[in-house]
Amino acid sequence: MSSTLDAFRLDGDVCVVTGAAQGIGFAIATGLKSAGATVVVADRDETLGQKAAQEIGGTFVALDVTDSSSVDQAFDTVVARHGKLDVLVNNAGIVKNASALETDDAAWRAVLAVNLDGVFYCCRSAARHMTRQKFGRIVNIASMSGSIANKPQPQASYNASKAGVIHLTRSLAAEWAADGVRVNSISPGYVGTELTKRGFENETWRKVWIDGTPLARMATPDEIAPGVVFLASRAGAFVTGSDLVMDGGYTVW
Ligand SMILES: NC(=O)c1ccc[n+]([C@@H]2O[C@H](COP(=O)([O-])OP(=O)(O)OC[C@H]3O[C@@H](n4cnc5c(N)ncnc54)[C@H](O)[C@@H]3O)[C@@H](O)[C@H]2O)c1
Repeated sequence: MSSTLDAFRLDGDVCVVTGAAQGIGFAIATGLKSAGATVVVADRDETLGQKAAQEIGGTFVALDVTDSSSVDQAFDTVVARHGKLDVLVNNAGIVKNASALETDDAAWRAVLAVNLDGVFYCCRSAARHMTRQKFGRIVNIASMSGSIANKPQPQASYNASKAGVIHLTRSLAAEWAADGVRVNSISPGYVGTELTKRGFENETWRKVWIDGTPLARMATPDEIAPGVVFLASRAGAFVTGSDLVMDGGYTVW
């Protein structure tokens, strides 16, 4: 008889993590590997990505999530290499801290292109394989910024993109449930990575961020990975279209 803990195993599952060359994506890929998965690091940074894949014990595929043909090619490569695609984690993301009035068209487009278009392109591309297999799990890394407007830094483009990810997740979960594909998101709070480094170095921002978090600290990237393992594994078998908030309590205040 298998135990509850066995339900979290991912042995034999082929998992692609976008933006896994560093930060939260690297930690997620490492977590999936420790649960038994075959891991593919997918990133636009080939040097860091190859290095990360080697460290994790997975393979690397280059992709730019803003370019749908690059995305389709990457997923075709994964399926040619491993014969299937079981799990996609859409983690690649960028932020621009600028007031709305100072956000020009190019800056707005750049954020939406990676954080929302990129998630859609990767979901669509992966789901072509997953719906054919009648099996797949997708975990989109959104953010608490999809539900609240962060302070003190203005970042309307980022917040809007992440709100889009949360609702895209629900919409795709509804479309693909009958084909055996579950789609969920995770909304982290502040996590110590390159993305937040400058913010944490800013004393004013750091204080507001930590004071606003009931657990009174930032998360480490490896604290987000178990949430992904849960949603990607049999442990999350009855969960789809949901958003798992992992924010140290930030959004309760
Ligand atoms: N750090 C946080 O506090 C925090 C909080 C909530 C949500 N998130 C989200 O978590 C995810 C990971 O963030 P992080 O903090 O690890 O960031 P990071 O900057 O450390 O890493 C981002 C990774 O994405 C890759 N990437 C960027 N654009 C890409 C593209 N067009 N195509 C392919 N790869 C691309 C980068 O090369 C890099 O490896 C993002 O979606 C981010 O919005 C982060």
